[in-house]
Amino acid sequence: MDTFQRAFYKSKVWRRRTWLGVACHQNPMDMWMIQEIIQETRPDLIIETGTRHGGSALYYATMLGLVGNGRVATVDVKPEHLAGPSGWIDGEGMAVDSPYFDRVDTMTGSSVDPAVVAQMREKAQAVERVMVILDSDHSKQHVLAELAAYADLVTPGCYLIVQDTNLSGHPVQAGPWEPGDGPWEALEEFLPDQRFEVDRSKEELMFTWFPGGYLRRV
Ligand SMILES: C[S@@+](CC[C@H](N)C(=O)[O-])C[C@H]1O[C@@H](n2cnc3c(N)ncnc32)[C@H](O)[C@@H]1O
Repeated sequence: MDTFQRAFYKSKVWRRRTWLGVACHQNPMDMWMIQEIIQETRPDLIIETGTRHGGSALYYATMLGLVGNGRVATVDVKPEHLAGPSGWIDGEGMAVDSPYFDRVDTMTGSSVDPAVVAQMREKAQAVERVMVILDSDHSKQHVLAELAAYADLVTPGCYLIVQDTNLSGHPVQAGPWEPGDGPWEALEEFLPDQRFEVDRSKEELMFTWFPGGYLRRV
């Protein structure tokens, strides 16, 4: 499996994946699991850090739309990706008339900027069920800062997904994330946090980019 993980990552085929025509840089196995989590937990709000082209936010919004509840709030420090050729804003081939775009609120800034965090907190405090997905800067220090800012927004029974724990050598080694400086190491420091349990059942498709990264708030 480790060999497959490394080969899949190195092939970069995941960079060509799209959702409703918008580039979505994810592993389809994990996206299936997130669909199951959304259906099971029916969040009112999904906070995503790291929008990039917008495909993952649109995917989460589509699943929320299909279950008939919830919105996505997503933030990125580089909004220019949204307007790129495969992006959210006038991208080629995207389903422009999709109703699911209406379920997404995009935001510009660093995910750990106090002004951004304050806006996210305000949104979270207005609803009952909140899920958080961290997919921005994958350095250990940044993920730890995001955990400090967002973990307590996750409501009991809902999920905190720390994405790309496979980087920094678990088993993928991809720059600029050096061995020992990734989300995996951030979680080693963050856990055991009594508020969360690692839900290994969400890894049963065997191929996940988020080993140990599916956290359920108890
Ligand atoms: C891995 S990509 C996100 C991929 C996207 N979620 C998807 O699945 O298609 C990471 C994104 O995080 C953004 N980013 C990097 N540092 C950030 C920060 N401090 N705050 C918010 N976004 C950041 C980058 O600009 C980039 O677009």
